[in-house]
Amino acid sequence: MTSLYAHFPWCVKKCPYCDFNSHPLNGTLDRDRYIDALILDLNEQRSAYGTTRFKTVFFGGGTPSLFDPADFERLLIAISCDGEVTMEANPGTTEHADFAAYASAGINRLSLGVQSFDATMLQRLGRIHSSEDADRAYRSARRGGFDNINLDIMYGLPEQQVEQALDDLRRAIALEPEHISWYQLTIEPKTAFHSAPPTLPDETPISDMETHGWALLREAGYRRYEVSAWTQPGRECQHNMNYWTFGDYLGIGAGAHGKVDRQRTDKAKAPSRYLSTPTATNRRTLNDDDLRFEYLLNALRLVEGTSWGTFSERTGLPPMADEPIWKRGCALGLLRTDRVATTPMGYRHLDSVLTMFLSDA
Ligand SMILES: C[S@@+](CC[C@H](N)C(=O)[O-])C[C@H]1O[C@@H](n2cnc3c(N)ncnc32)[C@H](O)[C@@H]1O
Ligand code: SF4
Repeated sequence: MTSLYAHFPWCVKKCPYCDFNSHPLNGTLDRDRYIDALILDLNEQRSAYGTTRFKTVFFGGGTPSLFDPADFERLLIAISCDGEVTMEANPGTTEHADFAAYASAGINRLSLGVQSFDATMLQRLGRIHSSEDADRAYRSARRGGFDNINLDIMYGLPEQQVEQALDDLRRAIALEPEHISWYQLTIEPKTAFHSAPPTLPDETPISDMETHGWALLREAGYRRYEVSAWTQPGRECQHNMNYWTFGDYLGIGAGAHGKVDRQRTDKAKAPSRYLSTPTATNRRTLNDDDLRFEYLLNALRLVEGTSWGTFSERTGLPPMADEPIWKRGCALGLLRTDRVATTPMGYRHLDSVLTMFLSDA
């Protein structure tokens, strides 16, 4: 079964580290017009691919929480999904949010962009909320009935000390969310941080943050299943698991990407262009080399990788276990023979492992 990603491209303000397709909201948001466009887009792609139901849905951004529960209700009636339905929320937009209404609209998983609980860090990151706002958003989401919540936290922040990064994690863990995404801050091209780089911690403090941070998460009962994703038992993000196991998904909304079989789709990035032609979809067919590489790029992010059976089922290609490049990776102690997976050493050097495949493609 297919998943669905819907992109919401506006934010109150652009964060200096962010390279997502997000645009500062100038003026008022025409919510009805955007939801209408998403429904047209959905229906067009759905009939192109013969998709009837979705196994998971993800409302990402940008800031989907700028939209009201009634907007999601209208959208979810058009979508139809009995599985996991996630919405990303920025705690700076949820002061008056009616979480119970989001839940009764059909959203059953919340992903809160907390980033840090430290006022100085939040200010350096250009966030529009305080740590108290994040705390409040979390507690009112719980009261509103959300029993599946992810917190996004970043580390390696400008001039961050090891203890500060660990304190953020402790604060996150104390709230007992079902899932924590713990990302290392990266400086992306075409962001404000790229033009005026802040001072980031060196390799040694970053490595200390990771060693101690991973231990804190493990001791609190979280299990790492992907590079940045930690879960309580059974609370893996089903939607992201579908990406990482190279499943199919439709992508609707400005700049959204999709994948069905060998086809990649994308939509106009600029919200105004998307709104004028919401049913226009660019399509590109992947060749065997692209398919193999994209599969590995996703599956090797998983601690356990995937089986070779899933590899063949999702790519239509025979297992690569006997190919020279895979054998070389195994001989170097980086790859496993029995699965599409790295060894623990390969996982520590994931970028080099992936580069090895890139230079072979
Ligand atoms: C698409 S953002 C959506 C969340 C929401 N817009 C917010 O910021 O509250 C998903 C997450 O990616 C992470 N992220 C974004 N840019 C990043 C960067 N340059 N380096 C590391 N993590 C980043 C942040 O933790 C963010 O919450
Ligand atoms: S709120 Fe999220 S999506 Fe928007 S600019 Fe900041 S990090 Fe990017």
